[in-house]
Amino acid sequence: MRAYWQDVLKSEYGISAELTRLNGEYDLNFFAKGDDGRTHILKVMHVGCDAQLVDMQCKALHQIKKFAPGFPAPFLVPTAEGQGYASVPDVAGVMRHIWVMTALDGVSYADFKPHSLSLIESLGRQIGLLDKALEQFTHPYLERDFKWNLTKAGWIRPKITPLTNPSRKALLADIISDFEALEPELAAFPKQAIHNDINDYNILVRGSLTGDHDISGLIDLGDMVAAPRVCEIAIAGAYVVLDHGDPENALAALVAGYHSVRPFSTAEIDMIYPLLRMRLAVSVVNSTLMAEQTPDDPYVTISQAPAWRFLEGQKIDAGLMRARLRCVCGFPVTDAAPRIHAFLNAERGNFAPIMGEDLSDAPMGPLSVAASTTPRNPFDLSPQEAALVGQEFEDQERIWLGYYAEPRLIYTADAFRKGPWKASNRRTVHIAVDAFAPAGRSLHAPMEATVAVVENRNMHLDYGGVIILSHKTQDGDIFYTLYGHLDPEVTTTLKIGQTLKKGEVFCKLGTPAQNGGWSPHVHFQLALTTDGMGEDWPGVADPDELYLWQEVCPNPAALLNIPDVKTAYQPVEMEMVLKKRQAHFGGNLKLSYENPVMFLRGWRHHLFDEMGRPYLDAYNNVPHVGHAHPRIQAVAADQLKRMNSNTRYLHPAQTEFADKVLSKMPDHLSVCFFVNSGSEANELAFRLARAHSGGKDMITPDHGYHGNTTGAIDLSAYKFNKPGGVGQQDWVHLVEVADDYRGRFRRDDPGRSGKYAALVDDALDEIAARGGKLAGFIAETFPSVGGQIIPPAGYLAKVYSKIRAAGGVCIADEVQTGLGRLGDYYFGFEQQCAKPDIIVLGKPIGNGHPIGVVVTTAEIAKSFSNGIEYFSTFGGSTLSCRTAKEVLDIVDDEGLQENARLMGGRLLDGLRSLQRKHNLIGDVRGFGLFVGVELVSDRESLAPATDAADYVLNRMREHRVLIGTEGPYDNILKIRPPLTIEEEDVDMILEKLGGCLRELECFSPC
Ligand SMILES: Cc1ncc(COP(=O)(O)O)c(C=O)c1O
Repeated sequence: MRAYWQDVLKSEYGISAELTRLNGEYDLNFFAKGDDGRTHILKVMHVGCDAQLVDMQCKALHQIKKFAPGFPAPFLVPTAEGQGYASVPDVAGVMRHIWVMTALDGVSYADFKPHSLSLIESLGRQIGLLDKALEQFTHPYLERDFKWNLTKAGWIRPKITPLTNPSRKALLADIISDFEALEPELAAFPKQAIHNDINDYNILVRGSLTGDHDISGLIDLGDMVAAPRVCEIAIAGAYVVLDHGDPENALAALVAGYHSVRPFSTAEIDMIYPLLRMRLAVSVVNSTLMAEQTPDDPYVTISQAPAWRFLEGQKIDAGLMRARLRCVCGFPVTDAAPRIHAFLNAERGNFAPIMGEDLSDAPMGPLSVAASTTPRNPFDLSPQEAALVGQEFEDQERIWLGYYAEPRLIYTADAFRKGPWKASNRRTVHIAVDAFAPAGRSLHAPMEATVAVVENRNMHLDYGGVIILSHKTQDGDIFYTLYGHLDPEVTTTLKIGQTLKKGEVFCKLGTPAQNGGWSPHVHFQLALTTDGMGEDWPGVADPDELYLWQEVCPNPAALLNIPDVKTAYQPVEMEMVLKKRQAHFGGNLKLSYENPVMFLRGWRHHLFDEMGRPYLDAYNNVPHVGHAHPRIQAVAADQLKRMNSNTRYLHPAQTEFADKVLSKMPDHLSVCFFVNSGSEANELAFRLARAHSGGKDMITPDHGYHGNTTGAIDLSAYKFNKPGGVGQQDWVHLVEVADDYRGRFRRDDPGRSGKYAALVDDALDEIAARGGKLAGFIAETFPSVGGQIIPPAGYLAKVYSKIRAAGGVCIADEVQTGLGRLGDYYFGFEQQCAKPDIIVLGKPIGNGHPIGVVVTTAEIAKSFSNGIEYFSTFGGSTLSCRTAKEVLDIVDDEGLQENARLMGGRLLDGLRSLQRKHNLIGDVRGFGLFVGVELVSDRESLAPATDAADYVLNRMREHRVLIGTEGPYDNILKIRPPLTIEEEDVDMILEKLGGCLRELECFSPC
């Protein structure tokens, strides 16, 4: 049959092409790959197809090209005779209409991931452009009677009667009733030609490794009808929300995109969500009817599942959805909102003071992520902390106020979390004003009111006593105020429906025992509508949803008779910080991520940005025992209270720290030097090596990094060999890094460690040839910037013996690998069975405090001690010594090396299972929590997948997981979290990474 249609394509269109069958519900569709490389779609319409249907589509394509030339629709290819379509007999001799159009790039939206909000917004824009182009299009076939015409969707009403599942029946009846209520208004909207079937398979997407995915096509005009354009967006929305993790924002993005090119009215916007539900109702009823006709076809039932999941499972409030859609389109949240705002502004100053006194001069107390260090653990506010929130602002019983729209970390209960992980979105932004005053303080009604809600919500960290009042403006508009954390006696003194006079005392502030456990205050919130909130208002919003919540619950300052600016939180502007940084720092001070992130708080292996969004830190090895460790805080504060001096005076902290360091070292190392950084430590190590050996020349593996000082850079090929680098000094000799995945000698070669070690002989020959003298060899025990490389076992031991034989000193840079990170080993050289002469420690040893350590033998120290004083002002400061000793003690006390072993094992196992599923992962390597995942676009040639690694890095950040990339080709994912990481965090890394890899496969298969 294919051959037959191939011949027809040639004879009718002059196109020689190879045909491949595509899916199609009724018609035969073929992908035609032309001999000349051009690609087309051949459509062979079903038997009996009305020619008008084809004619409509052909003409619509012309219309689109004429009115929206850049729109991603296919071009219609005319027949050899210049017609839009042809009618030819098929193999059985039955006449069929055929037509041809150009093929478009991209994969179907159904097969594409991620369905990001920005992609959905651009889909909305494209649909808007399409409808704009079709606005004047007319065709008799648009008016046909058709089950998918949403304006006529009421046909499903009688069809639900026989349904047997009562809850489904009731649900559908509800949706239909909502629809019927809208029908007259819908019928009054102007009609135009709409696509009418923008489903996942009719949308094409072109993915890109930069993450800038775009809509590359909207296809299949076969369901076009004349209907109000609001039906178009409701139908597209019905597909976009299905199985989307964030359906409300997905629909909002779609509508905002459409609105940006073809603005809706509020009447249209308010209708979108009920129409969307009606479209889904039509789908499920239609497939239920089909299932009756074809009871043996399981696909019919399976295909309804996502629609049922959405209709039955999603607790989306229609009122709130309406508000959300209005907000993203820049409309007031309700029609009354502007009038209520005007009323509040006009009356500002005339309301009765709710605290019984003027608040104009009341001090503000910031509780923001930026300003406050409460709670110590941003995942768990303790009862003591809750009861003392803001105590620092208490001043002789004065009332003080907490900000509106302030991001805070004090909301730690599960109810604030929006996903399964600790690093999932959470609600952090306070959308009320707090007034702190002693318990028992009376509150007054700001204006006449009716009691709408009075309750005691007595769960810990809830409101305790809470009241919602409703108020009416002169125009008759209703708005609401909420008062939380009250003395619960209000439940006995107030009744729902009771009216209050302006200024009337109606409740009292509760004690912590009565008010949910909080420091006494009232949470005072204004709402312009209770649609979607009912009696259970969120007092705190997701920072990414403020576009909605600041409209529903605006700043209530007017009701307190104070200006909005007084209570409005001024955020730490990331943009401003960035601008200042760009102005005042060197351009090569690099920031992670193109769209940088700003962190203000940390806790263990999580970081929090300025809005309190949590991130899983799977990248930073400096906070070795976790961010903001309480023991480090305590020891540093304690020492700063006493004194902080240097090694010119005796202090037990210095020797205690040295004892601790040496307790971890092999016996032959007995002398410590304390410095400020890894770079300084390496500088000193070079001086020691030179002093001891009398030589200058150094051997080091390629692509290593040892620090940013002049000497360290000279030994860091990762820096000096880069374009713009200082180049290689004549006393520096590079050997190939012992990378048995990508390097010269691979894992299938049992002799590879010896072969890599033998490369040192060439370097020694080079030194001899130039008349130099060897000082020593330095290597990161496991090269990190080189790509988280694990050299073959025994490599370093073999190298060291060659170096020693040549009179050199062996330096192990353990800055990245030391102190238990490797799980099975405290240091990397242990795994290599190597005995360094000098060990360099840095980064993690101070957990963020600047300290480096050099440890060596008594002999080498003696060679260095030649009469010239050695002194590093801050190296070995009392504060540093106490801090760093505490770090090492914590590693032991909290069993962090063992945790690194266990969590590293879980991570590596999970990564290896991802490797089995995804060809993109060429190699998984590491020990403990020193892990590399090498991405390759071809497992044979090992072609580095650099762009894919960059894509993963950025997507992981969007998923709130911080990782890095490394290696000469920047194609190795670097995962090295603080050693405190737990199972759920490892699982999060694996789940999110798996998702990124699946995304990559849908648009860049390898
Ligand atoms: C292996 C190694 N050595 C030395 C250093 C330099 O340490 P610092 O930046 O503390 O000077 C680094 C820093 O990344 C490193 O990774």
